[in-house]
Amino acid sequence: MDIRTVKEFIGADWTVMTQRLADALKSDIALLNSTNESILAHSGKQLRPLLALLFARACSGGIVSEATIRYAVSAELLHNATLLHDDVADDSDQRRGVPTIRSLMGPAVSVLVGDYWLVKAMELMLGEKDGDTRVIRIFSKTLSDLAEGEMLQLQKAQNGDTDKEDYLRIIYNKTASLFEAACVSAAISVSASDAMLKAAHDYAVALGLAFQIKDDILDYDGTESVGKPLGVDIMEQKITMPLLGAMKNAGETEEKRVRGLVKDIVAHPEYRDEIVAFVKSNGGLDYAITELGRYVDEAVLALDVLPDSYEKKCLEELAYFTAKRDM
Ligand code: IPE
Ligand code: IPE
Ligand code: MG
Ligand code: MG
Repeated sequence: MDIRTVKEFIGADWTVMTQRLADALKSDIALLNSTNESILAHSGKQLRPLLALLFARACSGGIVSEATIRYAVSAELLHNATLLHDDVADDSDQRRGVPTIRSLMGPAVSVLVGDYWLVKAMELMLGEKDGDTRVIRIFSKTLSDLAEGEMLQLQKAQNGDTDKEDYLRIIYNKTASLFEAACVSAAISVSASDAMLKAAHDYAVALGLAFQIKDDILDYDGTESVGKPLGVDIMEQKITMPLLGAMKNAGETEEKRVRGLVKDIVAHPEYRDEIVAFVKSNGGLDYAITELGRYVDEAVLALDVLPDSYEKKCLEELAYFTAKRDM
């Protein structure tokens, strides 16, 4: 089962979600409208709204509410907002196989358009009447998690001292927190039981961590299909799971030496090849793959309390997809 098959399975709900997403981004400012359209034309995997719709349906016996759609769209808007900001933070030229807004139109436009998408996400969360305060609280927490994660990542980069606990906090904040918001808000939108809400939380957090570990593995060994520049994390002094694993395997003296290389890499970009070789020859990728597998298993296990359904099967398959994906 691939991601397209899953989208086809939820058919009408998926169509409504994508239409609502496009509608949310209509503006009478031609420059803004055309920029939004060009982002939507290269839309990525849209995994977060897919998980949200599936989770709601898995909890409710196949039915979504109007709020489910709004929250799912919100999650995708918020995700894209963070990418528009992240590509400025990372000076990135390519995403989804095409040039970034940052590289085409400059950092100011990328940040402003990101802000616009963010506010549109908020509007949808609120809905026509007063919004559900639980959902607003969940998404607000995610927003501060995101900012804190990016700042902690920067702080750690300069010190070169990221350990596994720091790394897990960073990836929870910058990635898993939004997966959590997407799935928990979806469960709330269909009045799911407390046990189901817990399942949404546990599944999404484990899956989000797995998803970012895979992203960090792809940065070391991905191919063109990833659609964004590779081998860039270490140049930004990001110490991720593959490097943590290699340092653990290599022992303290080597760890100290390699952390020194990471600290000095900005002045010495030639250290990159040495660090990449170090990761590969010390089992860093295998280590990261094992960790990734643990989180995927944890995600699948969390689904146990849900009644059997095709939606549940899809959620399981998407967890495995996270580990296998090459994009
Ligand atoms: C990229 O997310 C940023 C991370 C959290 C790793 P995705 O890989 O879901 O991005 P798109 O939307 O499919 O391009
Ligand atoms: C995830 O981190 C970014 C966000 C949550 C915004 P990355 O910096 O690894 O994402 P990519 O690799 O640029 O997509
Ligand atoms: Mg980035
Ligand atoms: Mg990345």
